[in-house]
Amino acid sequence: MPARKSAERFPEHTVLTDLFSRTISYLRLSLTDRCNLRCIYCRPDGGEQEKLGHADMLTYEELLRVVRAAVSLGMNKLRLTGGEPLVRKGIMDFARQLGEIKGLRDIRITTNGVLLEQYAEGLRAAGINKINISLDTLKPERFAQITGADCFQQVWRGIEQARAAGFSPVKLNMVVMRGVNDDELADFACLSRDTNLHVRFIEFMPIGSRSRWNRDTYLCSDQIKQRISHLGKLIPVPRSETDGPASMFRVGSDAKGKLGFISPISHHFCDRCNRLRLTSEGRLRACLLHDAETDLRAVLRQDGCTDEEIRETLLAVVRSKPQGHRMEERLREQEGGCHGRMSRIGG
Ligand code: 5AD
Ligand code: SF4
Repeated sequence: MPARKSAERFPEHTVLTDLFSRTISYLRLSLTDRCNLRCIYCRPDGGEQEKLGHADMLTYEELLRVVRAAVSLGMNKLRLTGGEPLVRKGIMDFARQLGEIKGLRDIRITTNGVLLEQYAEGLRAAGINKINISLDTLKPERFAQITGADCFQQVWRGIEQARAAGFSPVKLNMVVMRGVNDDELADFACLSRDTNLHVRFIEFMPIGSRSRWNRDTYLCSDQIKQRISHLGKLIPVPRSETDGPASMFRVGSDAKGKLGFISPISHHFCDRCNRLRLTSEGRLRACLLHDAETDLRAVLRQDGCTDEEIRETLLAVVRSKPQGHRMEERLREQEGGCHGRMSRIGG
């Protein structure tokens, strides 16, 4: 059957809706599984993980086709992730091309900050409007233990550079792990009080087949709040569109920044989920914590693949999006976490 014209099939201002009436407007692209750090939760044995070959990753041309197709379906928000997105060559040109796509009104990046000092300004100029930096400790020595690289100061300069380049707010993500960094919760909370940085505490999730996750390392958001209760009452901040799944607070009425809690396990936000993920090998993933994936790369690399076929694949994945991840029940029933690799999925 000949493909119908896209204008007819997908009129302008399409809104993608899944079977549970959620609007799907946000695509997360993992640009590479490579990384210049070896975080303990991402690479549990600290060693090299098998890397994708360059030909296994989608090319920038392929990625642009996918993004344009997604935008034509009404998706308007994009996040670049990895691995570490800034280690992929050509990312600045790619970012600039993304910035020119009409209808894509929000382009964000999540980075470990190692290369940010040199890239922050260029990213901003390319049209990236929001930045998240992963930072699990404020102690240089511990940073080296957690990530395998002695570059805390370099990341800190990157954070400063991101502020100087005009990213506002600059958000720091801390994955909270008992016995690893939970003695720094108050320090991070104070950072959000005394500076205009936003800090978000993320519950540690059981991702990856050799994950270090267990009941002992995991702290839920309520426990985290208790640990910082001596700092005074947290003042809730009304949810804004840029908060994503975080619930936001201020540590005292004079706080310069905000403090967020991202609770994928204890207070899952599946009913508000608005996202699809594209892994670095070109697989579409409807849910971070469900391993089902659809091979979009195979579709893209078929002879004469049309934009219509890309859109149909995106639509099929949206329709397959599960209602929720049920991770708390799965863990209780000893079903275990998910097996996908964080470095390919991108968080
Ligand atoms: N649980 C929670 N967050 C994680 N991240 C990586 N692995 C995990 C995990 N198992 C975070 C990173 C980064 C974001 C992409 O996801 O620290 O901030
Ligand atoms: Fe790199 Fe992120 Fe994995 Fe750390 S968690 S090793 S920064 S991909």
